Amino acid sequence: MSSDNISKVPNSLQEHWMPFTANKDFKENPRLITEAKGVYIKNHKGKTMIDASSGLFCNPLGHGRKEITNAVTKQLETLDYCQPFQQGFGGSFELATKIARHTPGDLNRIFYTICGSTAVETAIKIAIAYHRAKGDGKRFRFIGRERGYHGMNIGATTVGGMINNVKTFASVLMPGVLHMRHTHLPEHKFISGQPETGAELADDLERICANFGGENIAACIVEPVAGSTGTLVPPKGYLQKLRKICDNHGILLIFDEVITGWGRLGSAFASQEFGVTPDIMTMAKATTNGVVPMGVVASKEEIYDSVIDAAPKGSVELFHGYTYSGIPVAVAAGLAVQDIIEKEDIFNRAKNLSPYFQKGLFSLQDLESVENIRGYGMMGGIDMKLNTKPGKAGFECFKACYEIGVNFKATGDCLIIAPQFICEEKHIDEIIDKLRTGITNYQKNQKN
Ligand SMILES: Cc1ncc(COP(=O)(O)O)c(C=O)c1O
Repeated sequence: MSSDNISKVPNSLQEHWMPFTANKDFKENPRLITEAKGVYIKNHKGKTMIDASSGLFCNPLGHGRKEITNAVTKQLETLDYCQPFQQGFGGSFELATKIARHTPGDLNRIFYTICGSTAVETAIKIAIAYHRAKGDGKRFRFIGRERGYHGMNIGATTVGGMINNVKTFASVLMPGVLHMRHTHLPEHKFISGQPETGAELADDLERICANFGGENIAACIVEPVAGSTGTLVPPKGYLQKLRKICDNHGILLIFDEVITGWGRLGSAFASQEFGVTPDIMTMAKATTNGVVPMGVVASKEEIYDSVIDAAPKGSVELFHGYTYSGIPVAVAAGLAVQDIIEKEDIFNRAKNLSPYFQKGLFSLQDLESVENIRGYGMMGGIDMKLNTKPGKAGFECFKACYEIGVNFKATGDCLIIAPQFICEEKHIDEIIDKLRTGITNYQKNQKN
């Protein structure tokens, strides 16, 4: 990376209200990113850092991919925008065909959205539209799970289960939503892969059906591996049980694969990795390698057919969509990503690198301030021991690691580690070594 791109801090930081950010703290000591290339990013002080969380799980193919830049540039020069309602362009159909080649079962009908949150919102609406089309309009309930994260619009916030995201907005949440317990048990300590215990937690869904009527439930939505809360891997048999209970009660199963999609666990989707096929799936982030916003909802053919066939010919079948649903630049980036996935055998690359990454991740368990580690594939969560108040250890540790030159996201007291799939073993070593130094420095600072 060039060194002449050391930008100054802008004159004023006040006008920009930053998302999910401690604004006051940030504006006193900003962390501005000026360049990104391959596995590295650079900050405004000229420091190069290794990207240990693929942005926000967005860029597994590495930063600054020429193929994507070229495809987007070319697209902008030929067709910069076209309205997605009652009109289209070839690329979005081509991408849908390519996406459908990777989705499990017959989840072959592809609806474009703008991001992960709008993909979840769309999945919720498709579930309702499907049941109504089948003459089953009484199904209004949705079941989420504690510690789930599905995005930040009202629908996604409601089915999510991370308390800080929910409590301020309690008055405006969707009605009829219930939550299963999360899948983290006290005995799940330092486990790489799926825990042996805890499948029975899926029976929470059966219990909810017994208490509230399975026939009133439209869908159950889970992240196959809960990502934002810090990599909660499903216990063996858990997802299979959920599938069975949904089938018994006519409930749609939605997998939110916004993080787990496109190779993060070593298969195209968590669905194939764990051998459970949902009815609807959401994806975003890595679909375009994070460079242009895009979300995707894949539905079973029967769901699409039911909704389409229920409407009179010539009328709009689903009154839903976005100005930016599958716009040309996003599609161009998505198609370039599909080419790279194929050419570089990306899912196998992630699968082959996973054991090395997991070994490195779990080597950090001797550190005094580390409470627990979980991981699967190219995903991991490091829980830090509580420090005076919740969230402090995670944030302080993140800052100590940033100083050392390893960047990632912390949620509460969990460090979220999700390296890029293009990493070589030496990059994994660098991430782990720098995490060790950063966490050790954090520990020392606490003692001083
Ligand atoms: C599983 C999951 N679903 C949905 C979302 C929301 O995606 P977005 O921020 O693109 O709206 C996220 C974001 O991290 C996510 O992890």
